[in-house]
Amino acid sequence: MSAQIIDGKAFAGTVREKVAAHVTKLKSENNITPGLAVVLVGEDPASQVYVRSKGKQTVEVGMKSVEHKLDVETSEADLLALIDQLNNDDSIHGILVQLPLPKHLDEDLVINSISPAKDVDGFHISNVGLLGTGQKSMVPCTPLGCLMMLRDHHGSLSGMDAVVIGRSNIVGKPMAQLLLGDSCTVTIAHSRTKDLPEVVRRADIVVAAVGRPEMVPGDWIKEGATVIDVGINRIPAPEKGEGKHRLVGDVDYASCAERAGAITPVPGGVGPMTIACLLANTLTACCRANGLEEPEGLTA
Ligand code: GUN
Repeated sequence: MSAQIIDGKAFAGTVREKVAAHVTKLKSENNITPGLAVVLVGEDPASQVYVRSKGKQTVEVGMKSVEHKLDVETSEADLLALIDQLNNDDSIHGILVQLPLPKHLDEDLVINSISPAKDVDGFHISNVGLLGTGQKSMVPCTPLGCLMMLRDHHGSLSGMDAVVIGRSNIVGKPMAQLLLGDSCTVTIAHSRTKDLPEVVRRADIVVAAVGRPEMVPGDWIKEGATVIDVGINRIPAPEKGEGKHRLVGDVDYASCAERAGAITPVPGGVGPMTIACLLANTLTACCRANGLEEPEGLTA
């Protein structure tokens, strides 16, 4: 079997169009512009690229974008004061503090100081608890993007065997909760899992989110399974020239695509969906803050 490619780049474009159309409606009918504030502490190059991209796409869908770039030595008190100010700013509906933070800052404390209603990352302990108990919450962007692609491809996920490889708070755990919410039978596998190949071979849906380049070979994949590759790993590519790199996922694309029924590529799969879902979450937060109907198909 040769897998159908799930085009995350095109899907993200559709999500952004839906968000933009709803933003236009909010502006004209309610005189409301959704606003997203992104806070970056320090100068990590990868984080700078993400933050720039977030700001650009926020403006492109018609929202207000605010960026706060703080010195790497910013104190916890100053960062918390900024978050407090954003929590109390009615023109801001979403707040994202780019991770990782410099070591002297307590990540849990900072994330939990964001108002849960404005926590568009879905990392606040209240949102984690709401998701875990099947209540309305803000849902982490990457797993939400994966869920949207899976629902689009399969329609119902009910009764499917899903294996999530990776147990991070950002992807693995919320992904498992979302799949459970859609009535999958869910296994979370990780570095201590016994006989990982056999566990993965049972899966109708495999979500790989470990951050290890090309870790999942094709012979772990059940014939016809759907493979969602969350990994974005930069590896040396001497074939492209000295010092050159290329991006690969957590699955070995060529061999997995031979057995899977459908697969997301890297790049162009899950990656573009993450920012699209951030915009969707900002819109959702704005609608909830104003007691307005939420857009359909953009939440879990
Ligand atoms: N760093 C890497 N991924 C993310 C994310 O989804 N949200 C935030 N805030 N920081 C990140």
